[in-house]
Amino acid sequence: MASSSSSSSSPAARCFTLTLFLLFTCSLAAPLRYQPSPSQLKLDSAKIAAKGQAERMIRSLNLFPKHEANVVFNDQSARDEPRISEKKISLNVSGGPGGGNGPSIKQFGHYAGYYSLPTTKAAKMFYFFFESRVNNSNAPVVIWLTGGPGCASELALFYENGPFQIRDDMSLQWNDYGWDQASNILYVDQPTGTGFSYTTDDSDIRHNETGVSNDLYSFLQEFFKGHSKYANNDFYITGESYAGHYIPALASRIYKGNKNNEGIHINLKGFAIGNGLTDPGIQYKAYPEYALAAKLITKADHDSITSNLVPPCQSAISACDSAGDDGCTEALSTCQEIFSSIMSIAGSINYYDIRKQCEGSLCYDFSRMEQFLGDDNVKSALGVKDIDFVSCSSVVHNAMMGDWMVDYETGIPTLLENGIKVLIYAGEYDLICNWMGNSNWVNAMKWSGQQKFQGASTVPFMAGNTKSGELKSYGPLAFLKVYNAGHMVPMDQPKAALQMLQGWMQGKI
Ligand SMILES: *[C@@H]1O[C@H](CO)[C@@H](O)[C@H](O)[C@H]1NC(C)=O
Ligand SMILES: *[C@@H]1O[C@H](CO)[C@@H](O)[C@H](O)[C@H]1NC(C)=O
Ligand SMILES: *[C@@H]1O[C@H](CO)[C@@H](O)[C@H](O)[C@H]1NC(C)=O
Repeated sequence: MASSSSSSSSPAARCFTLTLFLLFTCSLAAPLRYQPSPSQLKLDSAKIAAKGQAERMIRSLNLFPKHEANVVFNDQSARDEPRISEKKISLNVSGGPGGGNGPSIKQFGHYAGYYSLPTTKAAKMFYFFFESRVNNSNAPVVIWLTGGPGCASELALFYENGPFQIRDDMSLQWNDYGWDQASNILYVDQPTGTGFSYTTDDSDIRHNETGVSNDLYSFLQEFFKGHSKYANNDFYITGESYAGHYIPALASRIYKGNKNNEGIHINLKGFAIGNGLTDPGIQYKAYPEYALAAKLITKADHDSITSNLVPPCQSAISACDSAGDDGCTEALSTCQEIFSSIMSIAGSINYYDIRKQCEGSLCYDFSRMEQFLGDDNVKSALGVKDIDFVSCSSVVHNAMMGDWMVDYETGIPTLLENGIKVLIYAGEYDLICNWMGNSNWVNAMKWSGQQKFQGASTVPFMAGNTKSGELKSYGPLAFLKVYNAGHMVPMDQPKAALQMLQGWMQGKI
């Protein structure tokens, strides 16, 4: 990646390099892809800055996009294919789960597929589906959504909670704590243009959660048609980071679809958001609070940020609520000042895990995944044709800028009142979507159980004999702070994360 040259430079130089990269992307790629009108080309500097800051923040799952998005203009084959084309896959995994004496990989129900989205002009959504490792046909169906916006769910598959992980020598090994131990799990590359998902029409690039949730809802309809034996199983939505936007939007979309008898009833039981961005108003305000508690900044810094930068952010957010897309992009730019000023004090820490330094331009090294998914044998095994894997798409990301500051907490109370379980969890060392901001919005949320939730006592969360976090819950709502974890809880605490999923789905959390 071009950006790796900046790994030895100072943080300031790194930001500068990144800004240049973004300007390059905006001025070169945008006209090619979107053919905007001349007035659109005159992006004012504030907007470019907002995009730059947002992209810096989100190097969110922190990949420098090697490719901008999968918009393929010469896909001749697409038109004649069926709506869903799925194949059984058996990737080369050494041994069997738990050591080598178990069943062979061929005995597992592992699938990869493309779904032609009817809600788009020409988009195809790529997904993996792993049937439960314990061969339990009653196990719940879980969908995982990685954030970004614009980062592929394979990040979670291979580094967090998938059935296997990639070894240094590029072979796969079973993950003892894969979430397929407790569920039949789907990983979807979305919004369109992310991962192996692609389109031949760039108007399919999404700008808001209406588009995102309609695409996912129609995918799930077709998925359950094709896998009807799972249609009555419990269904849960899970994910991380920017999925704090996707998940409540999808849950509301499913709730509405069920209520209106739109298609197959989806047996939605709950959703879980890990280190998510859900209520930006409350969460941006919590940055100085968290940074002070974590000793990243002094009390004087905290007071100065809180009195100078928080109020403009709060009023910009109110303007966003009424002004739609452009107002929300402005709000992002204004609010991002809070985060930027904390980072300028905190230096080169990894803002996904403040115990660590941000090493290189990626903060984490996800190159094994890129190499693995770039392999022609792997691609052909997955049914992927002539396209490259886009781990995090800057085009998809930038297209969602107007969605960033929108509050998605607002739809959750209705879901709670209807018995849908909600688990908000957060690794304690993540700054960017920190546990304090998440705890604050969960406590501030108005619903019939609010007072009882606020008054509930915090109890230890045990993974085996280890105290792994602090849990507060009442009725369908639970908040869990996970110890010794950053932004990616299942990567840092795989055992606790699997136990959390299992316990929560079984109603023990
Ligand atoms: C799961 O059960 C089916 C039918 O009983 C069997 O054919 C299959 O091999 C089993 N798979 C595993 C991984 O044990
Ligand atoms: C969402 O984006 C689409 C364009 O992709 C637009 O037509 C629609 O009005 C937007 N909806 C909302 C609620 O902003
Ligand atoms: C699995 O291993 C075989 C034998 O080494 C190889 O031919 C095949 O291409 C591999 N499959 C994948 C998907 O890498």
